[in-house]
Amino acid sequence: MLLKDKNIVLCVSGGIAVYKSIEILRLLMKVGAFVKVIMTENASKFVPPLTFEVLSNQVVCTDLFNCTQDGSVSHISWAEAADAVIVAPATANIIAKLAMGIADDALSTFMLAVTSVKIICPAMNTHMYENRAVQRNIDNLEQDGFKVVEPGAGELACGTTGPGRLAEPQQILDRLEFYLYKKDLLGKKVMVTAGPTIEPLDPVRYITNHSSGKMGYAIAKEAACRGADVTLITGPVNCKVPFNVKTVCVNTADQMADAVFKDFDESHIVIKVAAVADFKPELVADHKIKKEKTDLIINLTKNRDILLEIGKRKKNQFIVGFAAETRELKINARSKLLKKNLDIIVGNIVGKSDSGFSADTNRVTFFFKDGVDEVLPLMDKTDVAVCLIDRIIEKAFV
Ligand code: PMT
Repeated sequence: MLLKDKNIVLCVSGGIAVYKSIEILRLLMKVGAFVKVIMTENASKFVPPLTFEVLSNQVVCTDLFNCTQDGSVSHISWAEAADAVIVAPATANIIAKLAMGIADDALSTFMLAVTSVKIICPAMNTHMYENRAVQRNIDNLEQDGFKVVEPGAGELACGTTGPGRLAEPQQILDRLEFYLYKKDLLGKKVMVTAGPTIEPLDPVRYITNHSSGKMGYAIAKEAACRGADVTLITGPVNCKVPFNVKTVCVNTADQMADAVFKDFDESHIVIKVAAVADFKPELVADHKIKKEKTDLIINLTKNRDILLEIGKRKKNQFIVGFAAETRELKINARSKLLKKNLDIIVGNIVGKSDSGFSADTNRVTFFFKDGVDEVLPLMDKTDVAVCLIDRIIEKAFV
């Protein structure tokens, strides 16, 4: 939603990765951004401007003197209107020109006039990328306020292996979003827990639950985008770690408890989304349990309740818990809010395909400690994260 109606200029310089710029344009259009494209002459040799023109519904600028329909000076008017500019791929040549302030074509001239967010996405041969002159130019650009999205590593089109591959289009969009966010959590330390815990029975088996980590990771990403210093304590999941988020990987509830207690005193906000196992096997077998027996009884013992413990230790921290319920959401959630000394508890009905564990969407109610309830409609988990961070800021700092 953040990129909807934003004016983005996509600057394309000449490298084999130009084909990925088409995907960047496609993703930007999909989220509702207005995109204009500027290409260097060399970029047009890889992909004709017409491709970008058709996909953006806009005239593509390849020449300082040919790209306005209304006679205005395009490099100035486009720069003034831009909310952000992405240079992808950024070749060694365009990086050098931008670092030196050279303006000898449409793209480099336009860039000198830009005052909004400028994102540079280098892509080139590994040896070129590691060349001291290129690294020096990238450092200079960073010092001048450009944001650099580092290239990925792998086998490149030229046959070498190493860093130099243009970052993935979605990663570039994530970074764009990150830089456009209002930083209303700047200076705040936020701890988020996510995912399941796993409690071993023997070296090959464990007890766990269906938490995918999607809800917790979305919240960690939102808090980081808003400028918070985020620590994500996570059970084993397959989610991508968001940009600028520190992670602590744990398996068991005991490991999660230790990690939470270690950072708790320094945290301003704690959001406990993890589905912590309430019980663990009393004994963990040293060797694989054999299946010869006809039945097997496993004694379980209670894990520490991490949220209850930090609720007791709470000083000025703002604590948010989650309640996963299959029925009587309000009664169960409110009782946990009170017992665990929380500021907000997010109640969600679990066990449905579109809500709770593993789903991309969630149906939640915020229960505040002042007695107010806020029922949210079915939403994408990323939107739940936005609403939750908004409410935390209102309640904790306004
Ligand atoms: O990961 P996803 O697939 O996206 O799914 C998201 C989710 C369903 C896991 C999430 O929305 C959610 O509901 N998380 C809380 C799950 C849970 O353990 O609920 P609970 O009602 O059992 O626990 C209440 C609170 O106490 C939770 O904040 C939990 O982190 C905490 N707790 C529970 C037990 C324990 N030993 N220590 C705890 O800190």
